[in-house]
Amino acid sequence: MENIKERINNLRTELHRHNYLYYVENQPELTDYEFDKHLDELARLEALHPEFADPNSPTQRVGSDISNKFEQVAHTYRMLSLANTYSEAELRDFHQRIVKELGDDFAYVCELKFDGSSISLTYEQGQLVRAVTRGDGEKGDDVTANVKTIRSVPLSLNGTGYPPKFEIRGEILLPFAEFDKLNKQREEAGEELYANVRNTAAGSLKLINSSEVAKRNLDAYLYYMLGEELPTDSHYANLQKAAEWGFKISKDTQLCHSIDEVLTYLEHWNTARNELPVATDGVVIKVDSLAKQRQLGFTAKSPRWAIAYKFKAEQVSTRLNSVTYQVGRTGAVTPVANLEPVLLAGTTVKRASLHNADIINQLDLHMGDQVYVEKGGEIIPKIVGVDVDARILVGDKVSFIQHCPECHTPLVRIEGEAAHYCPNAAQCPPQIKGRIEHFISRRAMNIENLGPETVDALLKNGMIADMSDLYRVTREQLISLERMGEKSADNILASIEQSRAVPYERVLFGLGIRYVGETVAKRLANAFPDINSLKAARMDTLVATDDIGGRIAESIVTYFQNEENIALVERLQKAGLQFALDAQQLAEKTELLKGCTVVISGTFSMARDELKKLIEKNGGKNTSSISKNTTFIIVGDNMGPSKKEKAEKLGVEMISEEEFMNRISE
Ligand code: IVH
Repeated sequence: MENIKERINNLRTELHRHNYLYYVENQPELTDYEFDKHLDELARLEALHPEFADPNSPTQRVGSDISNKFEQVAHTYRMLSLANTYSEAELRDFHQRIVKELGDDFAYVCELKFDGSSISLTYEQGQLVRAVTRGDGEKGDDVTANVKTIRSVPLSLNGTGYPPKFEIRGEILLPFAEFDKLNKQREEAGEELYANVRNTAAGSLKLINSSEVAKRNLDAYLYYMLGEELPTDSHYANLQKAAEWGFKISKDTQLCHSIDEVLTYLEHWNTARNELPVATDGVVIKVDSLAKQRQLGFTAKSPRWAIAYKFKAEQVSTRLNSVTYQVGRTGAVTPVANLEPVLLAGTTVKRASLHNADIINQLDLHMGDQVYVEKGGEIIPKIVGVDVDARILVGDKVSFIQHCPECHTPLVRIEGEAAHYCPNAAQCPPQIKGRIEHFISRRAMNIENLGPETVDALLKNGMIADMSDLYRVTREQLISLERMGEKSADNILASIEQSRAVPYERVLFGLGIRYVGETVAKRLANAFPDINSLKAARMDTLVATDDIGGRIAESIVTYFQNEENIALVERLQKAGLQFALDAQQLAEKTELLKGCTVVISGTFSMARDELKKLIEKNGGKNTSSISKNTTFIIVGDNMGPSKKEKAEKLGVEMISEEEFMNRISE
């Protein structure tokens, strides 16, 4: 027996090592055939001896077709973004800010900015235990089963010296070659082609079957280690350690000791990146010393110790063939340019967004024009100019349509706004459909299993006319739809049922009131704990609420002036949806900080967002900058010296986290 266990362990260790040599080092020592033979032997032994099963065995890389659920997991450390710049001048400003705080005895680490889908990996005792997507930065989806199929992600670490528990972040990427292969297969199958590598990587990570993910041949580069006991105080040295443990760390990462060295790096990679097998969109410049990083700290959104220098997008010119118009759920009409297909930064571009009538006019677009197309970070490329010299025989000047392309209602333009709208909200088909799709979306009612095709079919068959009808759809109706099995119908019904419990703020968001996004919906739910108080709210009470400006307030008032909206809300109430904060949410609410404007500065025992929530729950308002209107500042560790100076000058009260907790527990 002992022998079998040993054999299994040896095979696992060897296969992990060869996997690393192949996928991380690009230096295989075994032929594919030999590798597969060992893998088969291991799989056979594991099948015979389930008592030696290991979720991180190399055999687990092939994934399974058990459906993933993607539970949401809170990040231990928030996943922030980076401040961006395209200009050398701004980069020099960044450098000056750092020098001002640190003097000039420090080093930078320059890294490529990989353009994929960010991921956070947690290792415990050298084993991969969890992989979570960025999500909203505070919580993401648990995609561990899918990430395990990525061969360059170590399931079990090499060597020693790794912390007992740590997190490492990086980017999941779909190499260009794999992207092309995938699109070729899709073309052959007559399927719509994927638009770009970044979205396809993100989409692949969310595939329901990990065995499908395994086929995508994703890659992963890691660039940020977090934890309580990191090996050294240098970001660079930590990454080198990570490389020793088996992580794929870009070999193009470089320590730089001056801003000039940084600039040389930028210049080199501006063109050299075109040779890389994966997508990059810039360079990330980070202060190397972790102590110095802590000294610099964070703004609300991003670290002060790092900046992303983004490469300017590539441009090509092509012909404008036609302009079509799309109507969104709010009735906003978006013009789309249909272009002569052209290759841009590795993908074929056929369409570009034109945004609105003003942009069309500014460009002075004519049908048949040669236009310059650029692909920035966005999914949809944009037209940035017209090659006027190439104009020989162009058609008419492009002028924005006057009527809705779907329902032919005359379009309106709200004073001061760029967009044209179709005002026929109640009957315009794409608006009706868009509102329902928004309502069922994950961040709103999260009615899983109900896809856009089913919504379409339900609408077309007259089974629903708005979202409230979803709560009356019957099993028979669903089953009568084309391509709908009994199991799927039951799943849909179950998720509709579950959505009745979705909390008030998400129901509010789901209504799709113009300008009421997730954050605004949260604010509103807090300030107006049930729908009747929101319905009754007037402009002045609304604008007195944090983060609610005139534009949002007006949109809310207008929404509730409409009889059809009121009737819809009533039907949804009858369907049993949550239109008030629940007892626990209400119980946590106080008015202890009513009228207080609170700034938080430094680091705390709890996440800053938790502190913010506490301020809000107790009726206070959290702002980021100190002014004479600040009631008090909660001071944590490492408060920035300039903030402190300002607070002292203005005589603003500074209290500790502990004192704050005392105040709100009264
Ligand atoms: S560091 C606290 N390094 O860029 C900062 N990010 O805008 C942690 N990214 O969400 C990020 N390459 O997905 C860092 N070498 C690199 C990166 C990188 C790509 C992405 C990452 C992040 C986004 C920030």
